[in-house]
Amino acid sequence: MSASPNIVLVGFMGTGKSSAGKLVAKKLNREFVDADHEIEKRENCDIPTIFAEAGEAEFRQIETEVIRELAGRENLVIAPGGGAITVAENMENLARNGVVICLTAKPESILQRVGHDKNRPLLRGPDRLERIRELLAARAKFYDAIPLRVSTDGRNTRQVANEIIRVFNAATAAPESAA
Ligand code: S3P
Repeated sequence: MSASPNIVLVGFMGTGKSSAGKLVAKKLNREFVDADHEIEKRENCDIPTIFAEAGEAEFRQIETEVIRELAGRENLVIAPGGGAITVAENMENLARNGVVICLTAKPESILQRVGHDKNRPLLRGPDRLERIRELLAARAKFYDAIPLRVSTDGRNTRQVANEIIRVFNAATAAPESAA
């Protein structure tokens, strides 16, 4: 890992990766990069349209390319989309020069935050809470495999950002030399 590893915030949709990530970047004087925005800029198209016109498999390929590029940089705060974690290559690339931290939230909090957001094509359907529960369960093994975790339930953006910085500092602190 380089002297300035990236801070990588993974987690399900609505766990606050972007809002907390922006604040972490500001506090640490780093650049914040939202992988979804990079995909949209590159394709000149919004995420729901990419899903509708090209399909999820094509979206995942573009996402993997964008993440590969971002992972090659340093000193960033990176927020990949919530599903990026399901592709092993993404996690290998991001972990190579990054400290990966998983943001978590209860399904009810996620529903409150993004349940009515038209920009989340994977949450469409008659029962959004059920859809969130299903997707969370299907992805649990990926999220649960990340040892560094920050719960966002009942915390505001500032509290989440401070906790991310604390976890990151602890993970990168030099081990105390045994005297
Ligand atoms: C997705 C999450 C979204 C976006 C796309 C797919 C997912 O990102 O990448 O809609 O599969 O969970 P956010 O987690 O930023 O909402």
